[in-house]
Amino acid sequence: MSQLMPPGFLDLTGRTALVTGAGQGVGESIARHLAGRGARVVVNDVRGARAIATAEALVAAGAEAVPIAADVTSYDDVRRMFAEAGPVDILVNNAGNAGAGNDFSSMASPFWESDPSTWQAFIEVNLMGVLNCTHAALPGMAERRHGRIVTVISDAGRVGEGRLAVYSAAKAGAAGFMRAIAKAGGRHLITANAIALGTVRSGTQGAEADPAADARQLAAYAIRRFGVPEDVAGLVLLLASDAGGWITGQTIPVNGGFSSAL
Ligand SMILES: NC(=O)c1ccc[n+]([C@@H]2O[C@H](COP(=O)([O-])OP(=O)(O)OC[C@H]3O[C@@H](n4cnc5c(N)ncnc54)[C@H](O)[C@@H]3O)[C@@H](O)[C@H]2O)c1
Repeated sequence: MSQLMPPGFLDLTGRTALVTGAGQGVGESIARHLAGRGARVVVNDVRGARAIATAEALVAAGAEAVPIAADVTSYDDVRRMFAEAGPVDILVNNAGNAGAGNDFSSMASPFWESDPSTWQAFIEVNLMGVLNCTHAALPGMAERRHGRIVTVISDAGRVGEGRLAVYSAAKAGAAGFMRAIAKAGGRHLITANAIALGTVRSGTQGAEADPAADARQLAAYAIRRFGVPEDVAGLVLLLASDAGGWITGQTIPVNGGFSSAL
């Protein structure tokens, strides 16, 4: 039979992927799926024990994985992490603060009532963290004439979320940054994209206390369920692989049809 597709389609054998915030939730799932396609995975988390737990589970399943505890908001930490990691072919900027244990109470009121001292925490991890890691990853990618950068943003950054104005701004900034890096990196065969998530629930996040509020939110989703981390991994695999080599500068929603990209 003639060949139906290139050998090794979506295969990441020989690639090293660094996933930030991979100690739980969406990042853990992305790390697991990249490892499942053969990548060596560097598992980052600011909480070292989480990074170790994820990496140990991947190794136990037969993958190659190393944990590195580092805070992506610290450029010194990020520089140390990339020095430890060795050459990184695929960077997934996943660390952010929309998930479990994050305190959004300061943002529950309208922006004009928010305390300016609460803004920086959203900018730091969702925007500066992406700048830091991308800056550290790019020189090696340019030198090797290959790179894949995927940044996890939120639909809040694409269409706006009234209760989360600063988070929306930081995520929109990260998407704009990906577009700029796509332009600058293209001639070095580096792609850069953002994926915009709707609400994703993982084992680490309980259902909202108020089922009626869940039902109201789900009414806006074409597929009437919240996402799970596994919903995100397929697009990341495509963008990270050779098959994604002509997809760059885009913000692609993964959101159950909550909103559509034009
Ligand atoms: N869960 C959702 O509904 C949802 C929706 C839209 C976008 N997102 C985005 O998806 C990404 C993952 O979300 P999640 O729900 O899995 O979050 P999560 O809170 O469950 O997991 C995030 C992980 O990142 C780590 N982390 C946080 N700050 C860090 C830092 N400074 N340096 C390194 N690691 C850090 C945390 O320790 C945690 O293990 C985030 O960027 C988030 O903004 C999530």
